[in-house]
Amino acid sequence: MEDKKKILYSGMQATGNLTLGNYLGALRNWKTLNEEYDCFFGVMDLHSLTVRQNPAEFRQRARNLFALYVAAGLDPEKNCIYFQSHVSTHAELSWILNCYTYIGELNRMTQFKDKASRHSDNINAGLYTYPVLMAADILLYQADVVPVGKDQLQHLEITRDIAQRFNGIYGDVFTIPEPYTGKIGAGVKSLQNPEKKMSKSDENPNASIYLMDDADTIRRKFRRAVTDSDTQVRYDVTEKPGISNLMDIYSAVTGKDMKEIEAEFSGVGYGDFKSAVGEAVAGLLSPMQERFEEIKNDKEYLDKVISANDEKAFYFSNKTLRKVKKKVGLTDRIR
Ligand code: TYM
Repeated sequence: MEDKKKILYSGMQATGNLTLGNYLGALRNWKTLNEEYDCFFGVMDLHSLTVRQNPAEFRQRARNLFALYVAAGLDPEKNCIYFQSHVSTHAELSWILNCYTYIGELNRMTQFKDKASRHSDNINAGLYTYPVLMAADILLYQADVVPVGKDQLQHLEITRDIAQRFNGIYGDVFTIPEPYTGKIGAGVKSLQNPEKKMSKSDENPNASIYLMDDADTIRRKFRRAVTDSDTQVRYDVTEKPGISNLMDIYSAVTGKDMKEIEAEFSGVGYGDFKSAVGEAVAGLLSPMQERFEEIKNDKEYLDKVISANDEKAFYFSNKTLRKVKKKVGLTDRIR
């Protein structure tokens, strides 16, 4: 990697089935920004432990997520793609940063409140300190930019606050990261309830397009998407949230703006428009799906790049961790 480029950091949890929201809100932007930055992408498997996982399925899902990053076009020779749990610096820095994070700050996190209400039988401490581990992920790599969907902006804000607080005490240890949301990062909404974000944890499978849905399933889900009783394809988030969501998706996939889309479907019913969105999304996802099928079982290749990238991530992040330990006054190990 060249030294001069700025650093980009991001990742996804290895939880559930990834959706079109994850793709358009995050993964695709990673690919777009790839050349411009030195990139680190984590398979955030420690974060996934905040909800109960079936161990065998979880292991497979985490490997598949790694393969999916590669299938989406991230080159593991040029980018550092790695498993969060393989790099011990994350858990270590997370502990230290816990001691620089206030309970009052964590109490304000809307994602915690939301998850706590959905998993009321398992409101564990990990769920509560989730944002601190996320701050550690980002700050370890001295990231300049973090491409995420809008739902993660509050976590970016607390990351910046923790970093600034730490720097205020010890000098410039951490780079203060900027979020990057891109256009659709504002959020892909559920196809069944356009007031909600499209989410991998939605109980209704028709609400989300999963990245591994086949073309027929994708077409069917778009045909069934909840819209309104009007017939005009017009962008109006308040009055027509369902159609506006489909227009956002169509725009993100085709690059057309809202005026062009309105013109393209003027005088045509919702049915034709929904079919066009389904076609466009199926066409977008199918090359990635094919590549994923090729890569996911290539154990030798995956093991090789995983091992090399784990090393790289450890080497890089440990530089920051060592500095932090020194600053806070932890003693050195005697070798
Ligand atoms: P996760 O796995 O929940 O989400 C992964 C990414 O997908 C984005 N996203 C969406 N964007 C637009 N519309 C949607 N409907 C939608 N649903 C999800 C999320 O904003 C996210 O960018 N906490 C992170 C994982 C993480 C992380 C990090 C990210 C852990 N450490 C450090 C960046 C840097 C998360 O929410 O993942």
